Amino acid sequence: MKDFLLFSGSSNRPLAEAVAKKLGITLGNVELTRFADGEIRPWIQDDVRDNVVLVLQSLSYPMDEHIMEMVLMGDAIRRSAPKRLVAVIPYMGYARQDKQHRAGEPVSARVIAKFLEVSKYKEVIAVDLHNDAIVGFFQIPVTHLSALDVLAGEVKKLGVQNGVVISPDVGGVKRARNFAYLLDLPMVVMEKKRFLDRHDTSEAFQIIGDVSGKTAIIIDDVISTGGTIAHSAKSLKEAGVTKVIACATHAVLAGNAKETLSAVAIDQIFLTDTIAANPEKMMEKIHTVSMAPLLADAISRLVG
Ligand code: R5P
Repeated sequence: MKDFLLFSGSSNRPLAEAVAKKLGITLGNVELTRFADGEIRPWIQDDVRDNVVLVLQSLSYPMDEHIMEMVLMGDAIRRSAPKRLVAVIPYMGYARQDKQHRAGEPVSARVIAKFLEVSKYKEVIAVDLHNDAIVGFFQIPVTHLSALDVLAGEVKKLGVQNGVVISPDVGGVKRARNFAYLLDLPMVVMEKKRFLDRHDTSEAFQIIGDVSGKTAIIIDDVISTGGTIAHSAKSLKEAGVTKVIACATHAVLAGNAKETLSAVAIDQIFLTDTIAANPEKMMEKIHTVSMAPLLADAISRLVG
C-alpha cells in the first residue's frame, strides 16, 4: 500500500481509530481547538504534501459543528498541497433532506455535497446515503458502501426460523429487497405516513404481505426518534408476528429514542458504529457491529 494519512474529526474518533488499526497505521495529528468566541480552529500538524490524505468525520449531531470542522480541515489540508484529499463520511447528516417536500424548502443533502467540494475534497467514501440518488449530488467520485452485509451477518448468527424481512416504508423497498436476498428470506412492505406539519412524526398503517406467525426483521437506514421502528413493531405484533428484530445502519437515536424503543416489543436491535455511541442512549437489546473493516478495505483499495 502507498503512503497515506488518515485524520479524524471529533465526531467519531473510536471508529477512526478502529479503521486506522485495521490499516496498520496511526491517525494523523490534528489539533482541534476553539477560539474564545466558539470558532473552530483545526491545525493539521503532519506534513501532507504529495500524500493521499483522508479525513474521517461522521456528520452526526451536532451536525452543523461537525460539518464546519470537516470543511475547515479540508481547507487546512488542501493549502499544504496533498496529492489527493478524500472525505470519509460514515454518516452524512442532512441526507434525509434529499428532496423538496414542499416549495420553500432546501435540498439540504445537495448543499452538504457542495460544501465538501468547495473545501477541495476530491473524492468521498460514504455509507448508506439514505437514497442512492445522493451520489449524483456530488460532482466528485463517491464510493458508496453498504452495511447490509455486515447486518445480515449478525442476523444469520441468530438462526431465525420462518423469518420475513420488513421495509418500514415504501422508500426502503430496494434496501429491504437486497437485505432479504442476503438472508434468503421473503420481503414485506409497510406503508408509513409522515406529517409535513409535525417534525419527526410518523405512523405505520398498512402491512402489504403476510407476516402472521413469522419473525419480522425490519431493515432501515436510520433510527432517529425510533418512531418508525416502534410503530412498525407495534403494527407487526398486532398482525401476529412472533418476534421483531430491527436492523439499521445509522444509530442517530435522537431525543427520546431510548424510551420509544423500550416501550415496544422489539427483541433485538442491530446497529453499526457509523455514529459514535452515546452510552446514555444504549440499551441491552442494542448490539453494535463495526463498519471499520469495510471502511478500511475501501480505503486500501482507494490508496492502492
Ligand atoms: C425515512 O425515510 C428513514 O428511512 C427512516 O425510516 C427514518 O428517518 C427514521 O426516523 P425515526 O426513527 O425518527 O422514525
